[in-house]
Amino acid sequence: MKKLFALALLVITLYGCRSHDQAAELNSTDTAKALYKEAHRPQLHFSPKEKWMNDPNGMVFHNSEYHLFYQHHPNGLTWGPMHWGHAISKDLVHWEHLPIALYPDSLGLIFSGSAVLDNNNTSGFGTKDNPPLVAIFTYHSQQKEKAGRKDYQYQGIAYSTDNGRTWTKYAQNPVLKNQGVPDFRDPKVFWHEQTKKWVMILAVKDHVELWSSPDIKSWSKLSDFGFEYGGHGGVWECPDLFAIKPEGETNEKWVMIVSINPGGPNGGSATQYFVGNFDGKTFRCDTDKNTTTWLDHGPDNYAGVTYFNAPDNRKIFLGWMSNWAYAEAVPTSPWRSATTLPRDLSLTKIDNRYYVRSVLSPETSKLVGDVIQVGTIAVNDTVTLDDNFDASSSQVSASLPVKDFSVTLFNEADEKLVIGFDQAKNTYYIDRSRSGKNQFSQNFRGRLEAPRVSKADKINFTFLSDVSSVEVFFDDGLSVMTALFFPDTPLNRIKLSSKEAVSVENVSVKKLNCIWEQTK
Ligand code: FRU
Repeated sequence: MKKLFALALLVITLYGCRSHDQAAELNSTDTAKALYKEAHRPQLHFSPKEKWMNDPNGMVFHNSEYHLFYQHHPNGLTWGPMHWGHAISKDLVHWEHLPIALYPDSLGLIFSGSAVLDNNNTSGFGTKDNPPLVAIFTYHSQQKEKAGRKDYQYQGIAYSTDNGRTWTKYAQNPVLKNQGVPDFRDPKVFWHEQTKKWVMILAVKDHVELWSSPDIKSWSKLSDFGFEYGGHGGVWECPDLFAIKPEGETNEKWVMIVSINPGGPNGGSATQYFVGNFDGKTFRCDTDKNTTTWLDHGPDNYAGVTYFNAPDNRKIFLGWMSNWAYAEAVPTSPWRSATTLPRDLSLTKIDNRYYVRSVLSPETSKLVGDVIQVGTIAVNDTVTLDDNFDASSSQVSASLPVKDFSVTLFNEADEKLVIGFDQAKNTYYIDRSRSGKNQFSQNFRGRLEAPRVSKADKINFTFLSDVSSVEVFFDDGLSVMTALFFPDTPLNRIKLSSKEAVSVENVSVKKLNCIWEQTK
């Protein structure tokens, strides 16, 4: 018996050591380099070392570290029992993988949620001098679901007093029980200074609910929003709510973000937003019930929310760069999915209405290597922008008149990705129908469109292309499109075309450095 016990101990110790070593190995630059060279592997975006990820979770900035947790199935390349994977970054672009933060337990799987820094130790999980990080997440009980019950999703919390390195689940979970609605999830919590309370926004099937708490442990309902507002082509998920001062104004407005699946403007998943006011109890929307506004018109930006406690009160957003319509079928291995690049959100007024503007967070400029300043060029038909182009890590910007134009990234195998503007329709587009592999799902739409909102007499655009994705910011981030594509060989050429003779200004092509190599 004793021998058996000793053997078990040895096995546990060895296993423990091995996983510790693996974690250390994971962080070594050499391993990361070999690992991050697979076909279609993002070079500029965060992706898990291996296996499945979906939503970013628990985004919190604390002690100079940006934490990124994410929905993770560590044993499969498709969705499965959810854990919270974990990574940290000091600059939002270079990431270090950490061990899984939250494992499923007897209450259920760990679905999406948020994390806060409980600065005043309202929860009592830390001390005034060492305030705790508190994660608020959805438990999903497969057992209850299989038993035919409706109350299988409820909210739980966990805390960390060591900078997010280890987490303890609250002994009295769940903190918010379910009253019989099957979709009751994705809590995003923030501190509401005016009422000195925590506020939670929760997705409940076809609307959101607002709840408040003095201590993150006991919650009371404030209000509902959204039954008839915005898009309702699918279930509401992963909401966010934050105050923001519109550009050039002194009074704050409130922005509510709600992901919806399906029902997106280009098929499948997408994220809508509402601008209005929140008085600590109720959210009132500026626009009428039938107005739906999309944060990103591309098909591949879902479940995104903003960081808690970001420096200078910035609204830093990260999304899951995929779409439930085909996420589990994309041709990548040994990992599936990535996040978008970080974006700073702001609010701007056009024709008496507020719109969210998304731009690449300034930290992304850390990736810039060689810069080719093309300056101003005359385009009459087609010009090559850069002879040594590399679509697998580049950032391209230009300013054009409001006329039809297109930028084509292509290769000699005749694979191409076209980004452009259709003046007659006042619509931007990305055409990925001949960009490489697309047979893996019939839902992988080729032509994707976004309306132009701006009234400016020039179109400024910036796009960032990685090995298998492009993020396009038209009109300084007023119309945004994010799309995946899977070329068999890298797209290594770039041309700009315009039917009319036009002058294209401020043309720049920047080569970007891989995030998994050591910063120069
Ligand atoms: C959104 C979502 C969330 C849920 C999680 C499960 O993509 O469906 O609503 O919490 O994924 O992984």
